[in-house]
Amino acid sequence: MSDLKYQSGFGNHCATEALPGALPQGRNSPQVCPYGLYAEQLSGTAFTVARAENRRSWLYRIRPTALQGAFEPYAGVTGWTNTFGSGPVTPNRLRWNPLDIPTEPTDFLQGMHTWAGNGHCDDQVGVSINLYAANQSMKNRIFYNADAEMMFVPQQGRLRLATELGLMDVSPLEIAVIPRGVRFRVELPDAAARGYVLENFGAPMRLPELGPIGSNGMANARDFEIPVAWYEDVEGEHELIAKFTGGFWRTVLQHSPLDVVAWHGTHAPYKYDLRKYNAIGSISYDHPDPCIFTVLTSPSDTPGAANMDFAIFPPRILAMENTFRPPWFHRNIAGEFMGLIHGEYDAKAEGFTPGGASLHNCMSPHGPDAGTFEKASTADLSQPTYIRDTMAFMFETRRVIRPTDAALSSKTLQSNYDAAWSGLKKHFNPNKP
Ligand SMILES: [Fe+2]
Repeated sequence: MSDLKYQSGFGNHCATEALPGALPQGRNSPQVCPYGLYAEQLSGTAFTVARAENRRSWLYRIRPTALQGAFEPYAGVTGWTNTFGSGPVTPNRLRWNPLDIPTEPTDFLQGMHTWAGNGHCDDQVGVSINLYAANQSMKNRIFYNADAEMMFVPQQGRLRLATELGLMDVSPLEIAVIPRGVRFRVELPDAAARGYVLENFGAPMRLPELGPIGSNGMANARDFEIPVAWYEDVEGEHELIAKFTGGFWRTVLQHSPLDVVAWHGTHAPYKYDLRKYNAIGSISYDHPDPCIFTVLTSPSDTPGAANMDFAIFPPRILAMENTFRPPWFHRNIAGEFMGLIHGEYDAKAEGFTPGGASLHNCMSPHGPDAGTFEKASTADLSQPTYIRDTMAFMFETRRVIRPTDAALSSKTLQSNYDAAWSGLKKHFNPNKP
């Protein structure tokens, strides 16, 4: 779809210039930068974190970002919040139908609807989970998020993410991540766009360790794509909208801040095609825990208990024998928010449609619905099960995921989700082992 160029690799130190010689050689801040550019450092992690976790980039730009006037509170973003309440949360399993595509002109910022979250952006802990539905590009309007890095999971319609560090085109079945603080504009090449956005307040996402799996598998580092330097030299009024401490702020610049001509470093946007995921699974019996499908993880201060894991349920082949092949019934300490990008999810026969969402919180029981249970219990296990043409995903967090008032009062909330399991029959017979 796109002839954009990318650099390859996850977490690599990248160096890129849109004009030859724009990147200073030998030092980060020479006395005078080539082409009359300004040098500016953008740090996404504490200066002194371990080298492997350090994220920072040097930007060489037409004007420094310090050239800005005072921000005023901005009321133009109404559906996006980081307020998740403090009272009790329903233990009920929740499921939603997709958002409608808006009929009024709606850009990405106006089309964001926060559905759930936990932790707090001030503390750099937790996440916010959002659905978006939009039908217009952002025009003369640039945004940055000081609270979080953002993961885009489009379900319908492409996104062009015009960022300070380059252009990325993202289609459904791809994801993109924009690091904390990076300025960008969301353009819609298609008539409408719908999908999911995760705000990660915690440690930047990274690839999970592979342990005994070895040096290959799951999401391979080489398949991540980082934009090359790109800039626009545009004068005239540009709104700059900032998200800071869960609120929105506005100032007006007299130029586009997407004016970085060259950059180098590790704090950079990236995208990934979920179809490239190398799914690892059981080749004997049982169904492994969903962490086997982790794409990216944001660790917490407790090893193994992630602030957030992003896992996918991609096309795959199930060949386990003498076993129940789909995910079994389970209750977990984790909070699990799921979305569906394409096709059908293999643990639900119906009711979970692309663009929809479900929430199974700490210790809320879930698993296959009655139809899936009956089918899997009588399946011919001498033949493999081919799960094709599907892509579901999960944001899993160690903290309870608190649905927002908007999510709980939405007309898309299904009133009968418990019925997915109501057909589960009693099969117990004490006389028939
Ligand atoms: Fe689950």
